[in-house]
Amino acid sequence: MSEFAAETRAVDSACWQALRRHAERLGSVPLRALLAEGDVRVERLHCAAGPWHADFSKQRIDESSLAALLALARAAGIEGRRDQLFAGERVNVTEDRAALHVALRGSADPGIQVEGVDVADDIAGSFAKLGEFVEAVRAGRITGYSGRPLRHIVNLGIGGSDLGPRMAVRALRAHSLPELRLHFVANLDGADLASTLAHCPAAETLVIVASKTFTTQETLANARSVRAWLEQAVTAAGLPAGVATNQFASVTANLDRAREFGIPDACIFPFRDWVGGRYSLWSSVGLPLALAIGMNGFAQLLAGAAAIDHHFRSAPLEANLPVWLALIDIWNLDFLGAESHAMLPYSDSLALLPAYLQQLEMESNGKSVRADGTPVGCPTAPVIWGEAGTVGQHSFYQLLHQGGRLIPCDFIAFAEADFDLPGHHDALLAHCLAQSAALALGKTLAEATSELSAAGHDPATVARLAPHKVFPGNQPSTTLIAHRLTAESLGALIALHEHKVFVQAAIWGLNPFDQWGVEYGKVLAARLLPQVAAGRTDPIEDASTRAAIAIIAALRARRRS
Ligand code: F6P
Repeated sequence: MSEFAAETRAVDSACWQALRRHAERLGSVPLRALLAEGDVRVERLHCAAGPWHADFSKQRIDESSLAALLALARAAGIEGRRDQLFAGERVNVTEDRAALHVALRGSADPGIQVEGVDVADDIAGSFAKLGEFVEAVRAGRITGYSGRPLRHIVNLGIGGSDLGPRMAVRALRAHSLPELRLHFVANLDGADLASTLAHCPAAETLVIVASKTFTTQETLANARSVRAWLEQAVTAAGLPAGVATNQFASVTANLDRAREFGIPDACIFPFRDWVGGRYSLWSSVGLPLALAIGMNGFAQLLAGAAAIDHHFRSAPLEANLPVWLALIDIWNLDFLGAESHAMLPYSDSLALLPAYLQQLEMESNGKSVRADGTPVGCPTAPVIWGEAGTVGQHSFYQLLHQGGRLIPCDFIAFAEADFDLPGHHDALLAHCLAQSAALALGKTLAEATSELSAAGHDPATVARLAPHKVFPGNQPSTTLIAHRLTAESLGALIALHEHKVFVQAAIWGLNPFDQWGVEYGKVLAARLLPQVAAGRTDPIEDASTRAAIAIIAALRARRRS
């Protein structure tokens, strides 16, 4: 239980009041002035962990406000909470579970048992089974009903059973086995599955049903449809039903349900309920990634995360990168008033990182009730959004530069390209660095005026255009740089954000490992399904829903007439 949850809320602490005073003091200090301190500032606001270097000098902080933030982290008992996490304590207090994703990369304390099961042994057994299967598929030793190797992998999953593997497979595409085609289907909308299967030869397709609970409506609907598709193909090939059972695999914590679905035990790759869905990439949920990059590559992903685990456990708070990432976000959100956070990876291979971090951050900390049931009393997780650079520069950077909103940005870049075409990577890096500088420094009216004059415009034109060329600046950002995008640097990057989220939750007093907020909509949808199907508006209480069902029914009636 967080110290605040037991004693005082963060918002009621002396640390919080001190930070309010720092925000009042710094609120009107432009980043230009802070950056005028030059190299000394950059050096003092640099933090590194594993392969990652982070520059916080373009954040609207100074040494005393940073010290106050660190005091807040200390007062929240971060070190103690961290030790509870790594010791396998039941930190997921509302579901009475441990959260042992760190064990999946060998970082948990030794000897942890959960309900009589030795965690390390259990994980080793799961990975041994997974490894055999992965290498057999990659070597073409596992064939489909026509005897041909399985070369199309279709992962059916959603949320944590999709976003992590999907993001990582794209991120590491430079390291993937070229003859394997990885496909990801998440949506209940049949368009997702149908458009995917159109490109998959049934005889060469391996279907992975990825679901921790094996009860998620979207995934089960897709699994049933794929099963029908596969059976239809087997029949059309004149073969008896059931010859394609080894073309189904499952990663799940609910083995009984997977068996009931008809998946053979040899193709069920279990993980435990002490692995949260959005923290499960490191488990058998990572099967698609392991198929793409091999078990050695997967081991490098785990090693990258383990290096950050070690850093998080051993670095003093003053030099602890996940702690800094967490505190800077809290500073921008709770003291400077930001409401969203833009993730801007200058790496096309990391284009799905913002979507992955949306679930990790917003499903973990998008809460307003603390672990002990009392209100948090302050804004918590930001709205996470973003796009790979330079693509985003041609859509929303106008708002970032001149929209007048405070939107902290994280720039992520690599010194070397993962696909090295001449004349591309240096320009990509130049854009990344230029955008963070322009956002921070801005351009004054005087500067815009003199630029226009120097370009030869007449005074009337200068006066007319200059206001449109002013950039307020002062938009804070952090820049994260690593040498290359590899399985190791990706694993480290993800672990940095897992621990950032954990630190924020500890300070806000939240439980980052449950997600009660996703249940209500599901219950309402189950109630509405028969009405939507029948076009009936009774007995729906709210007029808006009734009207929508009536419109849908009327439009469908047109189709039949
Ligand atoms: O979004 C709610 C959620 O429970 C996520 O936490 C989870 O990752 C996702 O649905 C899928 O759940 P499952 O892996 O059990 O299908």
